[in-house]
Amino acid sequence: MALHTAFTELAGVQHPVVLAPMGGCAGGALAAAVSNAGGLGLVGGGRADLEWCQEQVSLLAERTDRPWGIGFLTWALSQPTLEGILERGPAAVMLSFGDPGPFAGTVLQAGVLLVIQVTDLEEARRAVDVGADVVVAQGTEAGGHGGRRSTLPFVPAVVDMVAPAPVLAAGGIADGRGLAAALALGAGGALVGTRFEASQESLVGPEVVKAIVEGTGDETLRSGVLDIALGNSWPARYPGRSLRNPFLDQWRGREDELALDQEALTGYRAGVSHGDPSLQPVWAGEAVDLIDDVPPAGDIVAQLVQGAEQVLRSLAPAGG
Ligand SMILES: Cc1cc2nc3c(=O)[nH]c(=O)nc-3n(C[C@H](O)[C@H](O)[C@H](O)COP(=O)(O)O)c2cc1C
Repeated sequence: MALHTAFTELAGVQHPVVLAPMGGCAGGALAAAVSNAGGLGLVGGGRADLEWCQEQVSLLAERTDRPWGIGFLTWALSQPTLEGILERGPAAVMLSFGDPGPFAGTVLQAGVLLVIQVTDLEEARRAVDVGADVVVAQGTEAGGHGGRRSTLPFVPAVVDMVAPAPVLAAGGIADGRGLAAALALGAGGALVGTRFEASQESLVGPEVVKAIVEGTGDETLRSGVLDIALGNSWPARYPGRSLRNPFLDQWRGREDELALDQEALTGYRAGVSHGDPSLQPVWAGEAVDLIDDVPPAGDIVAQLVQGAEQVLRSLAPAGG
């Protein structure tokens, strides 16, 4: 049973599995591994450092001739960076977190698939208005930054709103059951982050991978504390989901106070730069429950697809 969907058709890929463009994690090697396995690998362009993105794209191009893409934080993107990357021939550009309006036309005019990640219905409507080819509906279960909606009701609501554009479900999907559920909700595939964060090709450090393998979804929470502590200029409407740590527990709910406490901020940053493991931010989603190994990314794609096929077969009517 092959999982062909409107998304696989549009993107020209074999499987409905997309690597989330995780900043600091999804470099060229990870994106190439996912594309080579038949999914769509997206480099995590993050805050759009053009030189870094170009290096990663060069690495990727050495390793795959399959379709690939790159994702940016819209609020940090600039036109020259976008144009510099479009010259490198991505199949897709994904924009997340912020108004895609100023950049959508440039992507579409280049004939590149415009993928927009949304966290609520207003953003979904805006994605359609600016011409998104694919909409990623991200639930709050997701690792990293995002909104407040939950994957289960949010995905079908976005599917209905943006039809006929295909939707990718994101947030909490880490095995074949999650991929099958996404397809059952009407999505054309899944965009997967945390599961690939704990892969052989991920750029995050071994202490982060270990925390993900050992952690549980119960220990994750969405908060603005770590961005304030790290001095990240993230828009406040997108708090980040990470594993808890003592600093987060101490300051949760007291973000305004933390922003003014120079001693606490300096102490935290010094601890992080000295590699104190109890302070390292571990951006990860509720799906850490389902992660207990660190395979090559290509194996993860195969496990997601084979697992989903198995679930869907088991649900098919007898003799059907
Ligand atoms: C470590 C990490 C970093 C992330 N960085 C980005 C990013 O730079 N840009 C982006 O659009 N999404 C980012 N995300 C969110 C993903 O795009 C995606 O919505 C999320 O990973 C899906 O949920 P999951 O982690 O449960 O699979 C990040 C997620 C993680 C776990």
